[in-house]
Amino acid sequence: MAMLDEIAKLKEEANAEIGQMNSAEAIENFRLKYLSRRGLLAQLFEKIKEVPKEEKPAVGKSLNELRAFVESEFESAKKKIENHDSQTRAMIDLTVPGRKRYVGRKHPITQTLDEIKKIFSGIGFGIADGPDIEDDYHNFEALNFPPDHPARDMQDTFFVEAGGGKLAPERSDRGYVLRTHTSGVQIRVMEQNKPPVRVIMPGRCYRNEAISARAYCMFHQVEGLYVDKNVTFGELKGTISYFAKELFGTNVKTRFRPSFFPFTEPSAEVDVNCFICGGTGCRVCKHSGWLEILGCGMVDPNLYKFVGYDEREVSGYAFGMGIERLAMLRYGIDDIRLFFDNDLRFLNQF
Ligand code: DAH
Repeated sequence: MAMLDEIAKLKEEANAEIGQMNSAEAIENFRLKYLSRRGLLAQLFEKIKEVPKEEKPAVGKSLNELRAFVESEFESAKKKIENHDSQTRAMIDLTVPGRKRYVGRKHPITQTLDEIKKIFSGIGFGIADGPDIEDDYHNFEALNFPPDHPARDMQDTFFVEAGGGKLAPERSDRGYVLRTHTSGVQIRVMEQNKPPVRVIMPGRCYRNEAISARAYCMFHQVEGLYVDKNVTFGELKGTISYFAKELFGTNVKTRFRPSFFPFTEPSAEVDVNCFICGGTGCRVCKHSGWLEILGCGMVDPNLYKFVGYDEREVSGYAFGMGIERLAMLRYGIDDIRLFFDNDLRFLNQF
């Protein structure tokens, strides 16, 4: 009866493994183990020769039953997993468009600022910055705007209540403002460095403007300052003309118009010829053929007294430009508010 025992044992073993056929790999292993040509069932069939004649019918019957049982379990496990596969395949719709990865980019103001930094870095300017909440002294007084002087009317100012210990205490006597321009950083740089100094100073500025297509309560400027021995207005003109060509293209022409700023003497405003209409007159240049890009001048010697420079020893130039304005000209944008709406339909264009 040894053979019948072996058959019973194998049936038990196979039975225990049926529940584990839950992957294509497990099913194939099951098949190899029991049903393949050298599998355990084939080995038992091989042994039938050795069984005594009178036992053969019983052994053969039992072995055939076992094979039928194993085969049908194998087939049904195979079916089950094939059905499952085709169901999941039906659930994945390969024609659905893929999910788009959104690639971010720099804001057009940052792009313009980066370009300006690159141009001035290339000709030896370093970069400095100062606080957005500035004291009255650095924003106005040391730039030659005396208290109550009408020149202050040019910049509608947000005044800030001094409070807490976070603001620079040294010049708090006249209070604080949200800086109306970056020019105050000129004073900070000169206070902290002996001449020569050659830096640009980018930063955010604030004015109490009625918000419109052309004015916003917050904007960006880049200030420039070069102080050394024997710096001339000719160098200022050369530097600004070079800058304009780098930013707007080599064909651009610059024009210096006399102007006034309390902290420069003489002062000028700089225009480039309108690259939109080529100078013949259009809406953007208001039919003048010229576009204003910045203010500049020779540093007023009075400023050197505030920072402890010897006004007989040094001379220098300064300039300041609005980044929004430059970006609007570069890209043909007609409303400054678009920069701050954060509307992707606008931002995606740059
Ligand atoms: N601070 C001036 C403004 O906001 C711009 C300016 C003009 C800056 C002339 C300068 C300069 O450095 O020399 O209107």
